[in-house]
Amino acid sequence: MNVHPTPLCTGGPALSPVVAGAWRLDSWGWSREERLRWIEQCVELGITSFDHAAVYGSYTAEGLFGEALALAPGLRNRLQLISKCGIQLVSPQRPGTRLQHYDTSAAHIVASAENSLRELRTDHLDLLLVHRPDALLDADEVAEAFERLRSAGKVRHFGVSNFTPPQFALLDSRVALATNQIELSPLALDALHDGTLDQAQQLGRRPMIWSPVAGGRLFTGDDERSRRVRNALTGIAERLGVLPATVAYAWLFRLPSRPVPVVGSRRIDALREAWAAQDVQLDAQTWYEIWTASTGHNVP
Ligand SMILES: NC(=O)c1ccc[n+]([C@@H]2O[C@H](COP(=O)([O-])OP(=O)(O)OC[C@H]3O[C@@H](n4cnc5c(N)ncnc54)[C@H](OP(=O)(O)O)[C@@H]3O)[C@@H](O)[C@H]2O)c1
Repeated sequence: MNVHPTPLCTGGPALSPVVAGAWRLDSWGWSREERLRWIEQCVELGITSFDHAAVYGSYTAEGLFGEALALAPGLRNRLQLISKCGIQLVSPQRPGTRLQHYDTSAAHIVASAENSLRELRTDHLDLLLVHRPDALLDADEVAEAFERLRSAGKVRHFGVSNFTPPQFALLDSRVALATNQIELSPLALDALHDGTLDQAQQLGRRPMIWSPVAGGRLFTGDDERSRRVRNALTGIAERLGVLPATVAYAWLFRLPSRPVPVVGSRRIDALREAWAAQDVQLDAQTWYEIWTASTGHNVP
């Protein structure tokens, strides 16, 4: 089992093999002591990387995390903190915004990153991502903002999220990107077939994977497709003597682009199930059993 953070790419940030996602943190209703306990239990497991975004919890999640972190000075040095910028939400926290929109101006990127630092109560981010592709994105302007943040020591590495391969290539031609954080699970297969993972493998930039268990639908969805996938995962799990969730993560780990799943669960047991998948090797037949259950047809 790999317990050490490993780089996303040559010269890129080293992340733990499983990342904990903080999107839903504000909905967990925890005290700051409980939030700190969750962070510490993740770290005890080996999960030292935490995924944030400026807009999570309508701009409140980073502050909740930072407040917990402030209880344990010294813990920050053992963590890798990731955040995202580039979305403007209509929120009581942002009275000037009348319409939800993307914003990849240099002014927004720098202000958003600086605000994330304040909220997370840290002096640097290990990785900052542009959250969504923006039709108005000017690659030179984004690259300049990234360089400003890098040279000020505020952000160490940069990447994107939900970018198509051409969008990734455009920005990467101006400033080196460490990763594309994308959706992928047995219920969301697009990245397997639209060139996203091929590009990741070609360039040697490991993708980060959001909603790796489809936001829980793998286990709770009652549509036909979810049921088919769940049956396949359960059967394989019984054969291998592990839990179905572990099989779902092993299915991601099997990909040659070496993805890093971002797990959104509040339960340490669920994070443990993800972690355990590092020890499970799926053969091609088993991997395609899950693909076939998802698509509802054999490979052509
Ligand atoms: N870049 C982007 O655009 C983007 C978009 C979405 C998310 N993200 C990032 O990705 C992270 C994960 O996203 P997500 O929360 O949708 O992912 P997920 O891990 O697929 O789903 C987590 C949800 O599934 C439930 N769940 C039930 N059984 C589970 C199991 N065995 N293992 C894990 N979860 C289980 C969890 O509930 P319990 O807590 O009760 O276990 C939780 O509500 C987010 O926190 C965020 O950091 C990024």
